[in-house]
Amino acid sequence: MSTITISAGHLRTRIDGNFKGKDIVSLDQFSQKDLYKLFTLTHEMKHIAVNSVPSNLLAGTITSLLFYEPSSRTFGSFAAAIKRLGGQTLDIQSPETVTSVYKGESFEDTIRVFEAYSDAIVLRHKIAGAAKQAAEAAEFVPIINAGDGNNEHPTQTLLDLYTLYETFGRLDNLTGLLVGDVLNSRTIHSLIRGLSLFKQNTVYLLSPQRLQLPREDFQQLSARGITIIEIASEQEIPHDCDFWYWTRIQKERFASLEDYNGVAQQTFTVTPQLMQRCASKNMILMDPLPRVGTIEPSVDRDARAVYLRSQIRNGLYIRMALLALVLGKA
Ligand code: NCD
Repeated sequence: MSTITISAGHLRTRIDGNFKGKDIVSLDQFSQKDLYKLFTLTHEMKHIAVNSVPSNLLAGTITSLLFYEPSSRTFGSFAAAIKRLGGQTLDIQSPETVTSVYKGESFEDTIRVFEAYSDAIVLRHKIAGAAKQAAEAAEFVPIINAGDGNNEHPTQTLLDLYTLYETFGRLDNLTGLLVGDVLNSRTIHSLIRGLSLFKQNTVYLLSPQRLQLPREDFQQLSARGITIIEIASEQEIPHDCDFWYWTRIQKERFASLEDYNGVAQQTFTVTPQLMQRCASKNMILMDPLPRVGTIEPSVDRDARAVYLRSQIRNGLYIRMALLALVLGKA
């Protein structure tokens, strides 16, 4: 398991108010202003999607969805986002088995090939840093990181931040509880970066000890001004959190099944009892999904559970907005 990289070299081109043609690799490229610009458009996109308004905003464009790792939500919502806006997709799932990658083609060559056929490439990959590598290989089209190993998952964080913003009307002065595989969860890594763009945010991290943030990353992220507090048990959960963000143990990131089984016993699960005991009245319960041992299905009835409601739907709207901006159509 490698540590996540937060060196200056990791910082891709900043958005600086102009999304057109930019690679979207890390949350570090965004400013508050960029997020608000995206959120304003997201609100318009919600109207299009909810009312099935025909749109030709992306007509004439083709986006490659190049997914080296399995995905339901990210793949499905990117495909739906593009189609809702009249664009087309080139869908490549498991390129290792269905493309020339099988014959030994290099990653860079595959990227160069698909950029010849499309206006943008949405990439999911199991290796941390793959999105940056793809962005360096691509000459003409933007790369959108749909999750690279245990590194980052910027579009998930954009929808998570939008969900928080919609709920609380602000992105500062929030207290969150982030639970599960803090070491490997790319959604947590990007979310901490995103929250650190705003003032006075606090996150409590609850994970098995072996799945804590590496010390170096803990220090570097804390230095951004966000307060990060590690806790070790459910008893330490503060009762005034604005949101809980539960993640599964990322089985596929472990070196062996034995390794995974060693920590799989020490996981935390949301139950109606835990909600009643520790969750505040106005908090929201989030999960990037898939739900694997994270939240008991009986919690779904709780109005505070947004993972299969607004959180998942916002993934569609935010990706519609992001694509429209990156492809220079909005
Ligand atoms: C997440 C991912 O792939 O990182 N899923 C998603 O995109 N919504 C979380 C996970 O797989 O656990």
